[in-house]
Amino acid sequence: MAMAGSAVGLGNIWRFPYMVGEHGGAAFIIVYVICCLLVSLPIFFAEATIGKSTRRDTFGALESISPKSKWAGYTAILASFIILSFYSVVGGWSIDYLIRSFGGGFSGRSMAEAREVFAAMGASPVESVSCMLVFLGLTAMIVGAGVDKGIGRFSKISIPVLFVMVVVIAVVSLSLPGAGKGVEYLIRPDFSKLDAPAIAAALGQSFFSLSLGVGTILTYSSYMKEDENLISAGGWTAFFDTVFALIAGFAIMPAVFAAGIEPAAGPSLVFETLPVIFSRMGVVLPVVFFMAILIAALSSSISMLEVVVAWLVDQGGMRRSHAVLAVFGAAAVLGSACAVAPRVFGACDFVSSNVLMMFGALAFALLVGWKMPREEALRHVRYRFVYWLIRYAAPVMIVAIAVTNLL
Ligand code: PFF
Repeated sequence: MAMAGSAVGLGNIWRFPYMVGEHGGAAFIIVYVICCLLVSLPIFFAEATIGKSTRRDTFGALESISPKSKWAGYTAILASFIILSFYSVVGGWSIDYLIRSFGGGFSGRSMAEAREVFAAMGASPVESVSCMLVFLGLTAMIVGAGVDKGIGRFSKISIPVLFVMVVVIAVVSLSLPGAGKGVEYLIRPDFSKLDAPAIAAALGQSFFSLSLGVGTILTYSSYMKEDENLISAGGWTAFFDTVFALIAGFAIMPAVFAAGIEPAAGPSLVFETLPVIFSRMGVVLPVVFFMAILIAALSSSISMLEVVVAWLVDQGGMRRSHAVLAVFGAAAVLGSACAVAPRVFGACDFVSSNVLMMFGALAFALLVGWKMPREEALRHVRYRFVYWLIRYAAPVMIVAIAVTNLL
């Protein structure tokens, strides 16, 4: 459940539905699923194998397999920290909007007014930084409570609730007059739109969505019981993550089309278009929507914080509570910079998703495929063809997308 929580996040809500529509509907979904099966899942298994077989934090795990791969431990932990910082800014926005929704803050507003509200929030350092700190504080409280009592308990309760919330929004959205166009946007297959950038986008999105390459899956797997099967954990996580992304698409796009609005991706979709549309249907729907975004963001941010905390505890010998406080302080500084400077936010997003994540994923695949004793790797990944995918196919594909994305 915690792995599913890490995977399900803002990426599913504000990027996936738009990407599907832009890159050919069902045609893109098919490519996305193939990418998941052939590349992302094998990377997931590789990352989980490292965690489960070494039972150490990201840095210690990589070092124990090959001392030369220490640097990859550092880049993965750094990536988790950077993603945590800018993700907390968006988490803060969702808290801000949740509070506004309680007061019926968007009812009767036009789209232009909603745009002004969003711009004013971004322009007010006090508002955006304080909301970011509240979000980071919630993340720290859950992680500080421990792996079982904090992360485990939060995930077991919040993920089913989140699922129900998104299904409810999807049902409402699909019942609106004119919703059919949104469904068509999502599923009508258009294979002519499947060019190389679309395939690279599918693979990049599946990496981000499954939280790969930054040590979250590695760290969570190091806490698995010996008899737990990482193939089924990975399979369920990917299945749940994809189903959730599709349901989010059906919660969002039909409502957007029913209101006669052009779809967009990213902040403007979630913080400008949707609050106005959902407020037309009463006070409850916006509250449910922003609550869902908050839960989705929290269940992901706790996994990023855990990577850094596990490293400080295992390598630095710190007490868990001190480690949580230290990372909270450092992320508060970078998060504040992201909250007030859109350029810093953009740079953090770009460097972590396009460079560091790819680096980490490549390192994990190469370590399991080429450095770890074959029998040990096979003991965890179980199937020879999965081992083959980790050893050959995944590294080649990662280099190919990294090059396509950076060009
Ligand atoms: N998987 C999350 C999402 O789709 O929003 C993002 C994410 C979470 C990336 C955790 C990296 C990570 F370590």
